[in-house]
Amino acid sequence: MIRGVIAGTGGYLPARSVSNDELAAEKNLDTTNDWIVERTGIRRRHFAAIGETASSMGMEACRAALAQAGASAADVDAVIVATATPDSAFPSTATRIQGGLGVTRGFAFDLSAACTGFIYALSVADAMIRTGHARGVLVVGTEIYSRILDWSDRGTCVLFGDGAGAVFLRAEEGTARGLLSTHLHSDGRFGDILQVDGGAGSTGCAGVVRMAGREVFKHAVTKLASAVDEALAANGLGHDDIAWLVPHQANIRIIEAMGRKLHMGLDRVVVTVDRHANTSAASIPLALAEATRDGRIKPGELVLMEAIGGGLTWGAALARF
Ligand code: COA
Repeated sequence: MIRGVIAGTGGYLPARSVSNDELAAEKNLDTTNDWIVERTGIRRRHFAAIGETASSMGMEACRAALAQAGASAADVDAVIVATATPDSAFPSTATRIQGGLGVTRGFAFDLSAACTGFIYALSVADAMIRTGHARGVLVVGTEIYSRILDWSDRGTCVLFGDGAGAVFLRAEEGTARGLLSTHLHSDGRFGDILQVDGGAGSTGCAGVVRMAGREVFKHAVTKLASAVDEALAANGLGHDDIAWLVPHQANIRIIEAMGRKLHMGLDRVVVTVDRHANTSAASIPLALAEATRDGRIKPGELVLMEAIGGGLTWGAALARF
């Protein structure tokens, strides 16, 4: 049996970190630090500089993931990038990263599943590894939401940040480590509660994020709960078996609700939303990079990941590090 083992993780955050107060002053927003912290847990976010792109940030995250795995461009068969903010429609952000890293074989493509994108990309990479289509896969989430926000909408623009994260999956035979299972869902009937209101093929311009926050919140709590149940049941595991929950980082209240459901205190949940805000598809790999590098997630431990995003899309993944 072949499995995709998470051999390396990497993250990249733009240099500029902006506090809630700084954002409110800079964008002339009718909001307060207390409101944002109380409703979301967000205190700061990073914003990309002019010239930075999803591909440039993703490339940095990939370099870090390869270095941690002791791998090089020659070990990469595939690059799968989850992003809602590609540099352009084509070439894909993934082929830009492939070229930038000097990978000259295999294949690369982008995948669109909004904030659930990293779980979707992991699932595709896992299937490719299990079926022998690839043995070394870079799975990347990279986002520049600062370029698709309406700065006059205080209900959305305070929630998002920029960044990139990546993992390098290596095929290994006969191992207990690696991705155990992934669980994907979507329901297009709810597409309009969290959407970008434009695009190259419709309005001809990028559009901005629109969200019915309360509706999204309700879906998040129920759909994420069922996705984590599904992941545990598929593997015959209970919540006690899970060492770490690495959730999508949208809102601390949703994260806490998932922790309660799994009987896991915040000491077993990796939280970055306070410093990164919601970096969409980048949030889980950024959190993985932080928690593997600071020694929290240790080899052999079971890690449960879950996310929900526009589409609606949602899902979960279980991996043994
Ligand atoms: N500062 C101050 N007030 C704000 C505000 C801000 N940044 N944003 C919204 N408000 C106001 C609203 O205008 C509204 O005022 P009103 O009652 O006078 O009309 C009030 O706060 C309540 O708005 P509402 O949207 O109902 O607040 P909420 O308690 O649902 O919190 C969210 C808003 C966005 C924080 C919350 O709905 C949420 O986190 N939703 C999930 C979002 C999410 O996770 N999305 C990503 C999924 S990938």
